[in-house]
Amino acid sequence: VIKMRLPALLLLIFTGAAAFHIPSHEEKVAAWNKLTVFNCATQDFNEGVIDGYKLIFVNPIWRHGDRGPTEKYAGDVLDEDDWDFGGGGYGELSPIGMEQHFHLGEMMFERYAEGGKFLSERYRAKEIYARSTDRNRTLISAMSNFAGMYSRATAVNGTDYPAFSSWPVSFVPVSIHTEDQHHDHVGDPDADCARQDDLWYKLAHEHPEYINYNNKPRTQQTLDYLINATGSDKNGINFDNVYLIRGGMLAESIHFPDNFSTWYPWYSADVKQRVE
Ligand SMILES: *[C@@H]1O[C@H](CO)[C@@H](O)[C@H](O)[C@H]1NC(C)=O
Ligand SMILES: *[C@@H]1O[C@H](CO)[C@@H](O)[C@H](O)[C@H]1NC(C)=O
Ligand SMILES: *[C@@H]1O[C@H](CO)[C@@H](O)[C@H](O)[C@H]1NC(C)=O
Ligand SMILES: *[C@@H]1O[C@H](CO)[C@@H](O)[C@H](O)[C@H]1NC(C)=O
Repeated sequence: VIKMRLPALLLLIFTGAAAFHIPSHEEKVAAWNKLTVFNCATQDFNEGVIDGYKLIFVNPIWRHGDRGPTEKYAGDVLDEDDWDFGGGGYGELSPIGMEQHFHLGEMMFERYAEGGKFLSERYRAKEIYARSTDRNRTLISAMSNFAGMYSRATAVNGTDYPAFSSWPVSFVPVSIHTEDQHHDHVGDPDADCARQDDLWYKLAHEHPEYINYNNKPRTQQTLDYLINATGSDKNGINFDNVYLIRGGMLAESIHFPDNFSTWYPWYSADVKQRVE
């Protein structure tokens, strides 16, 4: 999770406009797209700011890039040692993820810094504050991001980075702040929180919507199929942990495309779609 110095003002403006008209889902998506870097890297960031107002603060938030599975999941044929990238082991950022973030950083540069239109073209410590959750993959995503944003030929040799031939070409280090994951209640949805546990285990699990969805024949058939196919314990795969199969399969299909269908013939397109 990264913050950049620019406006809370924007929120006020949109709240004001919304008082007259409740936007449809499509309108919200279109409005959101206008503000996201993905869809408008080259679009003027001032678009959407009303006359007489000036953009002074921007607070973008994004997730990590492509990673390996976070743990061994039911049916997984691989072990932790098979995951070598990003420092090795479970849940690390892959080189694909690093590249994704590098490109995102390039887009941020185009949108906010090119020509000094909002941020300076060089890393200025007082203009930008970056915060990441305390996970290797998010910290390295942030580093990759700022490499794409500020490590460029226009960075000043000997000032922005050392004038030293072995230093990675034009690499400008940018500080990334973090908070211990147990106490990071801003960025980490898994931070320690008794209230969240209560809401999830007592309120959500006992809610008719959850119970009905969990008890649906289609849900139970899918879980039973997965339990059988992976040879798991009767209660080994449930509605709460099936996401691990989804995430693990996604990672293995990306990183072992040649072996994937041989390893998991039972993970057909239909099963994949049900799991997702
Ligand atoms: C970060 O990497 C270290 C070393 O591989 C590992 O022990 C640790 O579990 C990782 N932690 C997180 C939160 O990614
Ligand atoms: C920066 O200057 C040093 C010393 O002159 C030189 O060795 C290095 O290649 C330069 N780096 C870049 C990216 O130009
Ligand atoms: C359980 O899996 C085995 C293969 O491991 C398969 O032959 C059998 O048909 C499956 N049973 C059900 C009910 O899906
Ligand atoms: C993937 O399959 C190929 C042969 O098709 C094999 O040589 C290779 O070792 C397999 N990779 C893994 C990680 O098992």
